[in-house]
Amino acid sequence: MELSVNVDHVATLREARNELYPDPVYAAVEADLGGADGITVHVRGDQRHIKMCDLESIRAVIQREITLEMSVTEEMMRLATRVRPHCVTLVPESPGEVTSQGGLDVAGARGDLKEHIFQLKKQGISVGIFIDPDINQVKAAQRVGAGYIEINTDEYSKIKRKGLRDEIIRIARVAKAAKREGLAVHAGHGLRYDNIRPLLTINEITGYSIGFAIVARAVFVGMRQATWEMVQLIKGAR
Ligand code: PXP
Repeated sequence: MELSVNVDHVATLREARNELYPDPVYAAVEADLGGADGITVHVRGDQRHIKMCDLESIRAVIQREITLEMSVTEEMMRLATRVRPHCVTLVPESPGEVTSQGGLDVAGARGDLKEHIFQLKKQGISVGIFIDPDINQVKAAQRVGAGYIEINTDEYSKIKRKGLRDEIIRIARVAKAAKREGLAVHAGHGLRYDNIRPLLTINEITGYSIGFAIVARAVFVGMRQATWEMVQLIKGAR
């Protein structure tokens, strides 16, 4: 099971003061030293936190797997082509949103999604799609040629108690269906130190993309330690 640490929110802090620090590249190095298997960044169309040059620097400095989260636009396709991250996770993006508001509607997506995925794969990039836990989206992801899905755990992360078991079952069913379709399964969004454990029992999920909780903890204990603590939780589960 792998952990990819999303360092976006280090850039959020930097941009809050329009400064040059804290630097997400340093954060990526610290996450690497803390045992992260990979680093993730989301370059948004407005580059409001992570900028294209951050991705370029992280790609140059970090030897671990780099994942670019991006929406399917010509500009982002050009960025992926230029920087060649190891993985691209396709996400929907709407102007003004604070964070991703849901998975990509692959089943209802434009016809050129398949062609875009083909173009990325042709460059040796592994392509995944961020989807809500819905079997129809899994099937659609397989049809358009994705190699992995990332199950959106936002809903899961917001449930306090009632309904939690049902949501875990829903995620487990989707993970199993994806594996049957030949897709690798990741999960992410809203995952924290105190809510990840139940998901670790779903064997089909082999990767986790976690950002906010780790960066928030890093404010107190540092990025290396915060990453290490999450790594212990994830790797300790098997
Ligand atoms: N996966 C996707 C597709 C995301 O958009 C985000 C947020 O940038 C994450 C994972 C990480 O979510 P969080 O910051 O809540 O851990």
